[in-house]
Amino acid sequence: MNPLLDTLHPYPFERLRALFDGVTPNADYTPISLGIGEPKHATPPFILKALADNGAALAAYPATAGSPALRQAFAGWLQRRYGIAIDGASQTLPVTGSREALFAFAQAIVDPTARQGGEPPVVLCPNPFYQIYEGAALLAGAQPHYVPSDPARNFAVDWSSVPEDVWARTQLVFVCSPGNPTGAVMPLPEWEQLFALSDRYGFVIASDECYSEIYFRDEPPLGGLEAAARLGRTGFQRLVAFTSLSKRSNVPGLRSGFVAGDAEILRKFLLYRTYHGCAMSGMVQQASIAAWGDERHVEDNRALYREKFAAVTPVLAPHLDVRLPDASFYLWAGIPEIWGRDDESFARELYAQYNVTVLPGSYLARTAGGTNPGAGRVRMALVAQTAECVEAASRIARFAAQPRTAQS
Ligand SMILES: Cc1ncc(COP(=O)(O)O)c(C=O)c1O
Repeated sequence: MNPLLDTLHPYPFERLRALFDGVTPNADYTPISLGIGEPKHATPPFILKALADNGAALAAYPATAGSPALRQAFAGWLQRRYGIAIDGASQTLPVTGSREALFAFAQAIVDPTARQGGEPPVVLCPNPFYQIYEGAALLAGAQPHYVPSDPARNFAVDWSSVPEDVWARTQLVFVCSPGNPTGAVMPLPEWEQLFALSDRYGFVIASDECYSEIYFRDEPPLGGLEAAARLGRTGFQRLVAFTSLSKRSNVPGLRSGFVAGDAEILRKFLLYRTYHGCAMSGMVQQASIAAWGDERHVEDNRALYREKFAAVTPVLAPHLDVRLPDASFYLWAGIPEIWGRDDESFARELYAQYNVTVLPGSYLARTAGGTNPGAGRVRMALVAQTAECVEAASRIARFAAQPRTAQS
């Protein structure tokens, strides 16, 4: 079999299962999980209805490029959301969730035969990061290079830390804005810096924006295409943005999203996808057209998250290094100093004593330059209902306030 499969790292949730193996959680408490970032708010009924009304579409093979109406729906949404002009036909493509698209994109972009001084091509991943980037890079025959995010600068990714010889080998850069797990939005000057580097070294930027609609400030997060357009890069050279309905519309099971950007790259990506066989079902296309065309449910969804974060964050803030993120549905919290950087023990003891699951931050990052930027942090996904999240937060606060010596 492909030996590169052996280079893949275990997924964070597998590691979490192993960490909790043999631990009996305190049965005085009901279990609450903030571990997995799976949206839990209700799917809007009009999306379910659009699915149910379009069963006839199952009688035909769907086109990989999607219907013209679907791509028009993408272009219309981009215009309304970011004020940018996009040609749906040549500058967008449907994808069956951004996860498969991020993975497939690396396979289409990376040229594993391109070597410099005998060294393989490089794919840059922010650190911490969404693990699909790394697996996609490894299976494409590239070497991931992890670029740390800086807690002192709102978790901005430190692009200037990348050495010149690494830039020279870089073929693909993953940007995650709003970030998972940090919630940070990449501001325009950083986009400008990255575009200049892309012009200089010729790499492609994959901008993962699946949390773009869950935000807490007045201004909606800047998108990659929007940043490009503001800087006069209207052809979106070497830039492709990845967007999804999973979080925006609470349909993680629908598997629906789209990519938009550089037409030349998307033309070849379509070719790749035709062979890969990941066309979106006609039923899903119709439901997606309905979802992208409606903002009301997105506003309601955002309001629910805002209410939840406003209730939870103050409960945790006295005990953990935590604050409202720019966007996303995660809190990326520093654990109390008495735990040092031992996020694994913190998560395991919290589970044992209070039956609350959080994800150790070190599972979402890699050690690079001697440090794991996720160590000493935990990720909390506030996807459950507000009351449940507040209950979890008050248990975490109680746990974090205890001296460590009182814990087993
Ligand atoms: C940063 C990031 N990108 C992409 C995805 C994939 O989402 P989907 O495939 O549902 O669009 C996730 C899911 O959790 C994510 O956290």
